Amino acid sequence: MATGLLVRVSGLRVGKRPLLFLPYALWSLTVAVLLLTFLPLVHPGVAVWQLPAEEVIPVYVVGAASISYSLLLFLACSGGRGVNLCIAVASGILCYGMSACVLLFLPELAFSRVSLVGSVGLAILLALYPLVFSRLVFMLSLALLLLLIVAVNGWFLQRPVIEAGAEPERIISARYVIDKETQQVVPQQPGAEGGALTPYGEGFIAATGNGLFYRLDWAGQGNQLHAEALNLSSPLAGRDTFYEKKPGGLQFRTTDILVEYGDGGDALLVSHQVWDREGDCFRMAVSRAPLDSEASGGPPDWERLYTTQPCIEQPFDTVETGGRLAWVGDRVLFTVGDHGKDGRGAPAFPQNPLSDYGKVLLLDMQGGAEVFTLGHRNPQGLLVDSSDRIWVTEHGPAGGDEINLLREGRNYGWPLATYGADYNKRTWPLNPDGLDHAGFTEPVHAFVPSVAISNLIQVGAKQFPRWAGDFLIGSLRKETLYRVHIREGRVIFVEPLTVGKRIRDIVEAKDGRLLLWSDDETITVLSRRPDADAGEEIFDQCRVCHERMGRDEAPAPNLSGIVGGKIAAKRNFNYSPALKAVKGRWTEARLLEFLQDPQQFAPGTSMGANGVPDAAERAALVKFLKTYGKKP
Ligand code: HEC
Repeated sequence: MATGLLVRVSGLRVGKRPLLFLPYALWSLTVAVLLLTFLPLVHPGVAVWQLPAEEVIPVYVVGAASISYSLLLFLACSGGRGVNLCIAVASGILCYGMSACVLLFLPELAFSRVSLVGSVGLAILLALYPLVFSRLVFMLSLALLLLLIVAVNGWFLQRPVIEAGAEPERIISARYVIDKETQQVVPQQPGAEGGALTPYGEGFIAATGNGLFYRLDWAGQGNQLHAEALNLSSPLAGRDTFYEKKPGGLQFRTTDILVEYGDGGDALLVSHQVWDREGDCFRMAVSRAPLDSEASGGPPDWERLYTTQPCIEQPFDTVETGGRLAWVGDRVLFTVGDHGKDGRGAPAFPQNPLSDYGKVLLLDMQGGAEVFTLGHRNPQGLLVDSSDRIWVTEHGPAGGDEINLLREGRNYGWPLATYGADYNKRTWPLNPDGLDHAGFTEPVHAFVPSVAISNLIQVGAKQFPRWAGDFLIGSLRKETLYRVHIREGRVIFVEPLTVGKRIRDIVEAKDGRLLLWSDDETITVLSRRPDADAGEEIFDQCRVCHERMGRDEAPAPNLSGIVGGKIAAKRNFNYSPALKAVKGRWTEARLLEFLQDPQQFAPGTSMGANGVPDAAERAALVKFLKTYGKKP
């Protein structure tokens, strides 16, 4: 094909065949569709017609460029003139160059640049194709292209996000080797970014960005989770009507959930955006509904706890929502983003005390609120740590993501002070030098370049004791988890752990496993892979009884060869009737069960030890016991 093209390029002219309008139009359309098929390669599992609203815009732009390019080519060589190569290249640059300019104005391009440039290059070549080849080759190629389009789209739709039973991937951190397993627990909601995850009972509650709620529980021993839809309606009143009125219009979403435990039953608080139908404007709100309602008459109504003021007119930045919730005593902190009203061509909401935007609010739960702190842009993360200090992670402009320690009444400076710059510029117009926070409260840390910061948690000691007390902070664009070690109010270091998922929310399970909620509604479970010699270290706590030497009667049976051996069968030990009553052999599974809670496994056993609560440690211990007492 390439040689054919070379041979037929004579002088600067390409081909001499007169073009017929209909076949060429058909060809151009097919090429455009092919281009749009390959563009969303960044979204496995989503076909082009399922893309979220903001990502459809670049698709339209590139599609329009492709069609207008074909049209120009057709005009240039109608009447059998053949096309001049210079004209072909010039019109290509013109059409796709214009589309590139439009794309530059989009705040965050979700497509990879490689797939964008690659698809455009392919489209240019294919647009020239019918000028060069005979009609038969052309018709055959057309059929092939159509087949390719059907195949690729079909593959997208069917492709599972994870393959069941695959060996978990690893993340190597400075202190641990971590197993990473991603699963699609709740159905994927195309175009619904956002949402959140929160612990509840032995499991969790998940909210999708478009307002669906699920109860999640562990299914068995592994990392598998099971989801069940909760009896709750979407709090995003009017979302469907809004999209009917404005297809492809701005996104609005749920941003966080929080459980309210009560004697009369638990309730779920949810923060979300609301569309004011009359004014055709938007607000943020916090709503509450009972969690355990089993009423047959449909889901319970949402009770509105708070609604932000004023109502925001369009256009605004739909993703600069903030929207995190956290308890402080019996009141709730609620972070509210500036929605892009940052003083550039719009009022600067974050510095205006009469506006709720760009603030952290303290809700009294009776419908009232006071401003706790101000001067925020997009506070995507909120944490009340183990010493009751309040932290906010804030999504800044390019190069200005922040970790802030909140003190009541303080002003954090946005949009008058930032370490970031405007997208595609080198400076922030309201704070051109960006050398400090200009008298406003400084962040504890700023990420330059930006990572697209999301929520944060403080790690307990259950599964990752060498991380105890550290913060884990998620990121969207960088798809990375940051472990932040803070001492004396100072960030000592930040360790990036690449996850490969847009991390929207993080929770720590009761046993210390970490769950990451992503924008594609998948959950990634991080668990600790036992250290090679961890088992032997843990066995030290067993030696006191099981290896006591120099006595006539040992306080505990010898454990050599115990894995696979008979239960309660060592000759010179006097077992309790409880253990003797257990028949069979120590399989790995039974040993794990016994070590988790000996008294539950064999009620009345004389083993006066508590067992090993940590699953990873138990696994390491059994691994060690397999070799214990055997000659190397
Ligand atoms: C305080 C002393 C003590 C400690 C500490 C202790 N054990 Fe035991 N263990 C015993 C006694 C006593 C028995 C016999 C129980 C019975 O007869 O009911 C026993 C029984 C067992 C058995 C069953 C042995 C058989 O022959 O069937 C296993 C396995 C075992 N222990 C493992 C461990 C491990 C692993 C640890 C450390 C995490 C540990 N034990 C810590 C006292 C202890």
